[in-house]
Amino acid sequence: MQTADTELFPAHLATVAARTSRALEEAGYDALVLHSGGLRMVDFDDYPYPFKAHAAFKLWAPLTDTPDCFIHFRPGERPVLLFNSPRDYWHKPAPLPAGSWTANFDLRPVATLEAARAQLPRQGRVAFIGDAEGFADWGFAAVNPRDLMLRLDYGRARKTPYEIGCLREANRLGARAHEAARQAFHAGESEYGIALAFMTAVSAREQELPYNPIVALNAGGAVLHYQVLERTPPPERLSLLIDAGVASAGYPSDITRTHACADADFAALVARMDDAQQALCAGVRAGVDWRDLHLTAHRLVAELLHDAGIITVDAEAAVDTGLSSVFLPHGLGHLLGLQVHDVGGTLASPEGGEIPRPEGHPYLRLTRVLEEGFVVTMEPGLYFIDSLLAAAKQNDRHARHIDWARIAQFAPYGGIRIEDNLAVTATGCENLTRDAFAALG
Ligand code: GLY
Ligand code: MN
Ligand code: MN
Repeated sequence: MQTADTELFPAHLATVAARTSRALEEAGYDALVLHSGGLRMVDFDDYPYPFKAHAAFKLWAPLTDTPDCFIHFRPGERPVLLFNSPRDYWHKPAPLPAGSWTANFDLRPVATLEAARAQLPRQGRVAFIGDAEGFADWGFAAVNPRDLMLRLDYGRARKTPYEIGCLREANRLGARAHEAARQAFHAGESEYGIALAFMTAVSAREQELPYNPIVALNAGGAVLHYQVLERTPPPERLSLLIDAGVASAGYPSDITRTHACADADFAALVARMDDAQQALCAGVRAGVDWRDLHLTAHRLVAELLHDAGIITVDAEAAVDTGLSSVFLPHGLGHLLGLQVHDVGGTLASPEGGEIPRPEGHPYLRLTRVLEEGFVVTMEPGLYFIDSLLAAAKQNDRHARHIDWARIAQFAPYGGIRIEDNLAVTATGCENLTRDAFAALG
């Protein structure tokens, strides 16, 4: 199990420091201050919303649950970590971190924001990155300057070996939790019961997961970001679409599985989607334009729809006319890293600029050519979405090419998504998710 206490961490930090030094110089700053984030209190009350540490801060230090910490970095110097150690009898202050990774920092406890402010640098042009609120009058040369952030975001796509280790561990935990969820589904649990099984398997509370788990039974699978957790099982158990991940040292997994229950036709559709997803994974390697893979996915899903008798035109025509987007209305995948939808997926260069999405595919989050060290999700889907099908029924171009009896047959199953996390290599990719499931035995 990898934590930040690994020999990989110093090399990771050295890479981050080198990238940051270059970006600071190019953008015209002398030093950088990163803030872990502040607690947001509920209006008129004294308890906070769940805390999410700022991703730019987590890149440097694996601290995910402590607000109001700061990192100060000046190129050529050891980074300073100001750790929030308040005197507070209402809450239990976090203990000063003690892992071997802390040896890379000048670690200092600070009891208040004022004390932190007093220890932050003043010489030269200092840039600040973090939640902007509350820092306007701290004397920084710039707060979240775009020219600096673009450069850092662009570089974040290439993960260090340490980061890939964290993502591998997040997948190991994710696979374990998904297996518990699958068993809970077959045992007849509700959506809520399945979510509890997922979290219990890895001792996580919901706010510690990288995103709220999507646990959709039956037709709920057609809602892409289904957010309900029904407390009672439906009268008939048809399908489960579960999109859920676990975090390790601040790095998430983002895994989806679709399970069929006793219907041979739907199970065959899931199996075909699994084959298509694996074929797409086989096409991942450095040098591939993700937009091409996205369009290949549309062709594969359209072939599947045609072979299953759901549409009556061939795949080429279905993609060209936009019919495939009725069933697959989201992007094929995205960068995965400190954020589930990691930054910089459409950046043309470290200076900015946007690589356009293919026409008719507005939700694609990744348009870059893959490089060694990128970690991406591969998540083709196929859904029976009421609103999109209703629009297609009114559309002369589409309505006559859809077998509406087949739609009525499959709609109660919601949809299918299969999502793995892939670390791109020069010649292919490491499938962090499949490897993790295989290791479960
Ligand atoms: N879990 C959200 C996504 O797959 O992108
Ligand atoms: Mn997902
Ligand atoms: Mn995803």
